[in-house]
Amino acid sequence: MPNHILIENKIGKFNKKIFVSGDKSISIRWVLFASLASGISKAKNLLMSEDVLAAIDIIKKFGIKVIKKKNIFIIHGKGLNGYNYKNNSVINAKNSATLGRLILGLLINSPKKIKLIGDQSLSKRDFKRVAFPLTKFGAKFQLKKNFSLPLTICGTKNLKPIKYYEKRGSAQCKSSIIFAGMRTKGKTIIKAKKSRNHTELLCKFLKLPVKITNKKKYDLIEVNKVNKINPLNYQIPSDISSAAFFIVLTALSENSKIVIKKVNINPSRIGVITILKKMGVKIFFRNKNIYRGEEIADICVLSSKKLNSIKCPIHLNSSAIDEFLVIFLVAAKAKGISYFRDIAELNTKESPRLKLASKILKMMGVKNILTKDSIKIFGNPKLIIDRKIVIKNFYKDHRIFMTSVIAALIFGGKWIIHNKESINTSFPSFLKIIKNLNT
Ligand code: S3P
Repeated sequence: MPNHILIENKIGKFNKKIFVSGDKSISIRWVLFASLASGISKAKNLLMSEDVLAAIDIIKKFGIKVIKKKNIFIIHGKGLNGYNYKNNSVINAKNSATLGRLILGLLINSPKKIKLIGDQSLSKRDFKRVAFPLTKFGAKFQLKKNFSLPLTICGTKNLKPIKYYEKRGSAQCKSSIIFAGMRTKGKTIIKAKKSRNHTELLCKFLKLPVKITNKKKYDLIEVNKVNKINPLNYQIPSDISSAAFFIVLTALSENSKIVIKKVNINPSRIGVITILKKMGVKIFFRNKNIYRGEEIADICVLSSKKLNSIKCPIHLNSSAIDEFLVIFLVAAKAKGISYFRDIAELNTKESPRLKLASKILKMMGVKNILTKDSIKIFGNPKLIIDRKIVIKNFYKDHRIFMTSVIAALIFGGKWIIHNKESINTSFPSFLKIIKNLNT
């Protein structure tokens, strides 16, 4: 089987109802919380992607039993102190920074050394952003000079609570410190720039001693030692980050409509919707409801002819951080020059996404000006591609692959896109759903 795909035709019109896969952030968090619960937790619609399976492998390594029965995952939690730490164990977070960074918070009390490794892409990413604050709790790290993986952590029983200011808008850093605070006597205080709040919502639902005060620009989070976590049954909603590919595909296709069912529309995740609406995309929410503190809705999108450029407000950056690549495709077709600022974080993701986006847009014939933390995109409502475009050497970044597929289906041209298997990181059914759109 070739590991690339060839796309030579634009997508025809479609009118479909689809389901995209379960939310990655919530799936990983459910696995971690359930592993610490006292008793049996069950999840439906857990995302079956490599990132989540890596989380399951890690908790299994610590002696936690996980069973899959049909489409239900069952985790036999052994309580907060139920991890069986062995000498010199090695855990592998594969491609997932969320898993790698969050699990370190939980390992803060490990009496044994644990080595954390990852795949090639994760091994390039920064771990000092969690290792430094976790050191203040009392954990000891062996880190490489550039603070990437592999690293070794050794925890302590004498944990001290910390005060931590999270300035990046990183939910991974915030969550890692919440986990460490949950294991620590005394009050850990976090001042966090706004970012996705799934960890906090789970703490609230589980009635853990975690207090959150929402301020305009940041949240204050007080974490006290947790003594017990009750089992947590969860029906995982669909992932807005996966839905975003189909939102953009529909918006930029002709005479088409899509309904994406039961998507998580947590306000800290829907920057993509706010941005696209401002640009003129027709998006509506239907059947809104609240589940375990998370907002869920069906997302309805219509082909949208008149698209405006945007000067993207920076307060939306964190809530759209994984969706900028597809948002840039809308900017490529909008009238005028779009400007996205203060997004240097994009270059610290699975690949240097901001730099690669600029390169791919240029290959598509879209003028853009790139700096180290911004991009200006010169939109062209009449953009049609009639050349050959080869996408490879992109660190097997799943979102670069899927964005390229969407670009090929919208703008035409002959595209050869490598590393098809990268979709297994977050959205294994992506290509199957695309195939079914025109049938
Ligand atoms: C995630 C947080 C974000 C996001 C990632 C998932 C999470 O990363 O990009 O895909 O589940 O907490 P940062 O916390 O580094 O912004």
